[in-house]
Amino acid sequence: MKKHNFYITTPIYYPSGQPHMGHAYSSILADVFARFSRNDNNKVYFLTGTDEHGLKIQKAAEKNGLDPLIYCDKISAVFRDLTKKLNLSNDDFIRTTEKRHLKAVNDLWKKLVNSGDIYLSKYKGWYSVSDEAYYSSDEVIEKNGNKFSTYSGSPVEWVEEESFFFKLSAWQNKLLDFYDKNESFILPISRRNEVINFVKSGLKDLSVSRTSFTWGIKVPNNDKHIIYVWLDALTNYLSALNFPNTDDELYKNFWPASLHVIGKDILRFHAIYWPAFLLAAGLRPPSRVFGHGWILSGDEKMSKSKGNILNPLEIIDKYGIDELRYYLMKEVSHGSDGSISLSNLKRCINSDLANNYGNLCQRVFSFVKNNCDNKVVKTNKISESDKKLTEQTNVLTKDLKKEMNNQNLNNYIKSVINVSFLTNKYINDEEPWKLKKNNVEKMYNVLHMSLEQIAKISILLNPIIPNASSKVLSALNIDNKMRNYTFLDGSYLIADTVQISELGILFKKII
Ligand code: MSP
Repeated sequence: MKKHNFYITTPIYYPSGQPHMGHAYSSILADVFARFSRNDNNKVYFLTGTDEHGLKIQKAAEKNGLDPLIYCDKISAVFRDLTKKLNLSNDDFIRTTEKRHLKAVNDLWKKLVNSGDIYLSKYKGWYSVSDEAYYSSDEVIEKNGNKFSTYSGSPVEWVEEESFFFKLSAWQNKLLDFYDKNESFILPISRRNEVINFVKSGLKDLSVSRTSFTWGIKVPNNDKHIIYVWLDALTNYLSALNFPNTDDELYKNFWPASLHVIGKDILRFHAIYWPAFLLAAGLRPPSRVFGHGWILSGDEKMSKSKGNILNPLEIIDKYGIDELRYYLMKEVSHGSDGSISLSNLKRCINSDLANNYGNLCQRVFSFVKNNCDNKVVKTNKISESDKKLTEQTNVLTKDLKKEMNNQNLNNYIKSVINVSFLTNKYINDEEPWKLKKNNVEKMYNVLHMSLEQIAKISILLNPIIPNASSKVLSALNIDNKMRNYTFLDGSYLIADTVQISELGILFKKII
C-alpha cells in the first residue's frame, strides 16, 4: 500500500486566558484526522502550540502584573497540559517565543522584502486587539458610542502609525486563480464561497508591522517595528519543520501542509493572507484549510467574554476524555455551528457509548468469559444472518475512508455507530445463550462474528475514542500492526481461534 505524508495542524492557542470548549473542540477535531491518517498507515506529523506575541498577550500580561515572557511561560504550560488532558497525539508543541520560530519569521520576512512585496507607509484605520485584525470602515458599526467589527463583533480602535505593508492587492487575481485550480483548498464549500466572494470584492494592502507596542518579533534591520502577529503566528507551521532549512528532513517530508484545521473566525488569515504570503515568498501553500463552525451555547458563541462556558476540564474530570471527544465529534456538525449542552452530552454518552458500543463489547466479552473459558473458535456454520450482517457492514463502511479524507466526520461516526447497533441486533436475534444448549457450533460462530465486528468497530472508532477502543483491541489481543483499515478490503481482523483477556468497564451510564 502506498504511504503518504500528512502534515496536520491545529491553530496555535493564544495563551491569554483559560482553555475553553472551543479550543478543545478545534484541537480534538484535528487530532481525529491525525490519528485516522496514522492508522491508515501514513506518515503523519501533527502540530499544535501557543501563539504568544502581540498586543493582546502584552495586555494580558500587564493585567496580571507579569513580564510578557514569564506570563507566556505560565499560560503556555497550561495549554501544553491541555493537549495531554485532551489526549492529543501531537508530535510537537511549538511556542512562537522559541528561537527556531524567530529564525523562520525573520527569513520569511526577508523573502517578502526581496520579492518586492513589502513597502513602508502609514496605516490609518480600525484595529481589533482581541482578533488581532484590521478592519475597513465598512466592516465597523457603532453601538452606544463604541465601535465594533461587523465580522466578529469585537471592539475596534482607531490606529494611525507608520507601518510596513504587504502588497496583498497585487495577489487578488493570483489567489482567485489558486482557488480555482485547487477546488478543495477551502472546505466546507460554503466557506470556500465566502472567501472567494471576499477576495473578489477587492483586497487592500495589509499592514504587517506595528510601532505602538513592543511585545513581538522585530522587523529585521528596523527595531522600531514589530511584525504583525498574524504573519508571525502563521509562520509557526513552517518553523516546526525547521524552515528556513529546506534540506531538513521534516521540511522535505511534510511541507506543504496537508491540512490546517481552524475555526471560521480565523478563516481569512489562513485562506487569504497565508497563501498570499507563501506564494509571494516562492513557497507552496497548504493543500487544505478546513474551517469548522463555532461551538455555541444556546445561540451564542461560547466564549469567556460571554460567560457561557462549559469547562472542558470539568467535563473530562467528571465524565472522561473519550466521552467528551465522542460527544463533540458526533454531535457538533463540523461544517456549521453547533450547540452543546450538558443534557445532550449525557444523552449521547448513554445512548451511543454506554448502551450501544460499550454494551456490545461488555455482553460479548462476559458471555465468552462465562461460557467459553475466554476462547472462541470459528466454525463453518455461516448462516444467512451472518451474511446479512457482513453485507450491511460492508455497505456502511465502504466509503468511510473517503468520508474521513473529506473531513465528513459526522457521516463517518454515524455509519460506525450504526454497525454497532446492527451487531447488537444480530446478537439479540441469534440468541447465543439459547444456542449454548442445542447448537454449540453455531454459537461459536455467532460469537466469532460478534468479536470480529467489535474489532472492526473499535478500529474505526479509535481516532475518536482512543482509550476505550485500545482497551478493547488489547483485550482481543489484536496486535498493534493490525490496527489499521486493511480489513475494509474484506480481510479478517481476528484469528480463527481467539483468546480474549479481561475487559474492564468501558463506559459508565450517566444518571
Ligand atoms: N492564536 C490564534 C490562531 C493562530 S493559528 C496561526 C487563535 N487562537 S485561539 O486560542 O483564539 O483559538 C484557537 C482555536 O479555537 C481556533 O481554531 C478558534 O477558531 C477555535 N475556537 C475558539 N472559540 C471557539 C468556539 N466557541 N467554537 C469553536 N471553535 C472556536 O485563534
